[in-house]
Amino acid sequence: MPKVVLHREGQVHEGEVKDNTNLVVMAGIRQFPYPNLRYGCGMGKCARCACRVLSGGEHLPEPNWKEKKQLGPRLEEGYRLICQLWITHDIELLQDKDPIRPMTAPATTAGTASG
Ligand code: FES
Repeated sequence: MPKVVLHREGQVHEGEVKDNTNLVVMAGIRQFPYPNLRYGCGMGKCARCACRVLSGGEHLPEPNWKEKKQLGPRLEEGYRLICQLWITHDIELLQDKDPIRPMTAPATTAGTASG
């Protein structure tokens, strides 16, 4: 069973998951890593689930087109969209305190109302 270590806001959360587990799906049904994993759409669109892979990344598949679209250069820094990953090996992840801004996020809409 893969062991998952999730670092978030200075705390470390550890758990074992079944082989081929999607952590966002698990959090959605209130199982580990709930409530410590931030996520949103579950579909690779919002980037709220983005984490940096600290170790175990060599077992992950290449980023899919959604990850490339939302993460862009952050892929080089080791970020992945957790909702797009099925965990088959031990992995260590770090989720930033603040969600990253997806590459496809619209520019700020403040003050754009027009008459
Ligand atoms: S939860 Fe929205 S991109 Fe992963």
